[in-house]
Amino acid sequence: MTKFIAISNRRGGVGKTTGTMMLAYSFAVLGFQRVLVIDLDAQSSTSITMMGHERWRHAIDCTKTIGDLLLEIYGDEETGFENYIAHYAGDVHIAPGNRKPDIDVIPSSFELDHREREIMLMNSNAGPTIDKVFDKLQTRVAQILRSFKGRYDIVLMDCPPGLSNVAWGAIKAADYVIVPYIPDMTAEDNVGWFLSRLSALDGTREVRVLPNRVQLNSPAHAGIMDSVHNLYQPLGPVIPARTALANALEFRASSQPIRTKFGLGMPTVESLFRAMLVLFETTNRGSHQ
Ligand SMILES: Nc1ncnc2c1ncn2[C@@H]1O[C@H](COP(=O)(O)OP(=O)(O)O)[C@@H](O)[C@H]1O
Ligand SMILES: [Mg+2]
Repeated sequence: MTKFIAISNRRGGVGKTTGTMMLAYSFAVLGFQRVLVIDLDAQSSTSITMMGHERWRHAIDCTKTIGDLLLEIYGDEETGFENYIAHYAGDVHIAPGNRKPDIDVIPSSFELDHREREIMLMNSNAGPTIDKVFDKLQTRVAQILRSFKGRYDIVLMDCPPGLSNVAWGAIKAADYVIVPYIPDMTAEDNVGWFLSRLSALDGTREVRVLPNRVQLNSPAHAGIMDSVHNLYQPLGPVIPARTALANALEFRASSQPIRTKFGLGMPTVESLFRAMLVLFETTNRGSHQ
């Protein structure tokens, strides 16, 4: 069964990329799952983090990015999306044998916003009103993303900040939406606004909030998390502010064991993984081939 997980928040800098990366490595290394990471953010930090600059730039030169994929198949036809996948990404290896975990990536590029505009122009006659055109685009993006079902156990979709048609497409494609947030003054309003938009969508998807960059000894952070979690269901773990987690965003040319990569952040990676397994067990969403 393939589980589609969108990591999303309208706000930038809250830990979408950090969360996506932690989930990708934990599912693939700790859970021995086949993982596909789709980077939908034009900033491309997930692509660079998971592939390194060199391989990511090469993918752009070869037009093997998510923007190229979405542009190529703006019609209704099936396509060879295999062309867009970078296999065995990441900078972690598994003992014994130091083999690479099963993590594939479809990278983003700085051109993605531009591509999205091109796709919109191509589809501008797709409906009588702009809302209908947007609906059609989002449905098409969701359809393309879901075409990976059956090939992977886990598809992680790292969303851009803001709510573009691509972001909505990913949310529509998702069985699960994980919403990282920083427990600061704007958190309750920001998370609340985003979740109310999600609840207005058709279909059912499980949505969980995930506090990140938490100062564990801060009463202010604890109070804000209490308020947010009274209103919106938390995934469970709290991701502390840790230099080790910030450093883990850096791609290393030579691969390393997962415990070396995450260092003091490793217990958080493990608790995130366990919480996802519990979520899967208690909700049982996903797509059979
Ligand atoms: N738990 C954490 N501890 C320390 N730094 C973090 C943590 N989570 C994220 N960061 C840092 O915050 C910045 C934004 O995180 P990122 O995951 O890129 O957010 P987003 O993808 O939502 O824009 C990055 O520099 C990252 O290293
Ligand atoms: Mg990001």
